[in-house]
Amino acid sequence: MSKNAEKLSIAGSGIMGHSIALTAAWAGIDVTVWGTDKKDLERAESGVESKLNVLVDYELFDDHKKAEIQNAITFTDSLEDCISNSTFVIEAIPENLELKQDFFKKMDEVCEEDTILASNTSGLSATEIAKYTKNPQRTVVTHFWLPAHLMPLVEVVRGDHTSDKTIDRAFSLLDQMNKKPILVKKDVLGQVGNRLQYAIFREAQYLLENDIASMEDIDAAIQYSLGRRFGVTGPFMTMDMGGLDTNSSITSYLFEDLSDKKDIFPTMNNLVKEGRYGPKTGEGFYDWPAEHTSKMEYEREKELIRWIKEDMSKMQNIHGA
Ligand SMILES: NC(=O)c1ccc[n+]([C@@H]2O[C@H](COP(=O)([O-])OP(=O)(O)OC[C@H]3O[C@@H](n4cnc5c(N)ncnc54)[C@H](O)[C@@H]3O)[C@@H](O)[C@H]2O)c1
Repeated sequence: MSKNAEKLSIAGSGIMGHSIALTAAWAGIDVTVWGTDKKDLERAESGVESKLNVLVDYELFDDHKKAEIQNAITFTDSLEDCISNSTFVIEAIPENLELKQDFFKKMDEVCEEDTILASNTSGLSATEIAKYTKNPQRTVVTHFWLPAHLMPLVEVVRGDHTSDKTIDRAFSLLDQMNKKPILVKKDVLGQVGNRLQYAIFREAQYLLENDIASMEDIDAAIQYSLGRRFGVTGPFMTMDMGGLDTNSSITSYLFEDLSDKKDIFPTMNNLVKEGRYGPKTGEGFYDWPAEHTSKMEYEREKELIRWIKEDMSKMQNIHGA
């Protein structure tokens, strides 16, 4: 049975759109997803199906629940049908400011006045996306992480004109979706998560370009140290637990030595120029033959599912207590 407080629509049925829809439906929320054409929608439907099969294989739920989730998602290539009577639209179209601005302008014109318009942008400005709306107080960013059905975090970004009511409704919906929303109080590029991720990525590239360690060893440094700890304690708690006396001393000599490069590093620039984008082209920083890609996707999914199971059992303990 649906527990919708909002009537949810998702515009864009790509990598993010269909997995956000799955997340909502998994939480018992009916959702309508718009895709550009039949092919786009077929891809989305089969994406949902294969993700659900994995979740059934890992015994997160059974085939009955799988069918319920599928029934809660309606796919359409009519944007009008998708947003009809919608009270909450999440936009997940390509990461292009003009495209998003046009979309928000159009939605602002056709949706009911109190319909929330949320963007899943990875890091564009919430205020800029809403620039051509007459009603920017009902606009917000809700940034889900990939894969949206397995990553709990959603960053809720307040644009310059976003109202408190809009923020409250976004949090309420995301709580219902069993997500872990955080509030980004000011509209900054890259929000919180991507700023942190790119700070690490900049330093990782600096270490590589200066031949301080191999790419594999830099990746291992994260996997076997920070990656493990960060699953339990974020940067502030980690520093507290290590002792601020020691960590301020490290700060005093290390900060000025860290990379502050403002533009793209040569290695990445060359890879992109050569069309080596990662698994999608078979090569990137690493080589990505199909078999290796499947293995890494499987490994990552398995680990994320292990975390989800732990989260679910914690929630059951809280509610059961
Ligand atoms: N892929 C990621 O890792 C990721 C993670 C978090 C957030 N995001 C953000 O989510 C949004 C969607 O990204 P994605 O990876 O799902 O993209 P995608 O290319 O997989 O899907 C985009 C979808 O938008 C629609 N679309 C395509 N062209 C369009 C057009 N010209 N006008 C309107 N709609 C169009 C289609 O339904 C298409 O499937 C972007 O803003 C992206 O930055 C992506």
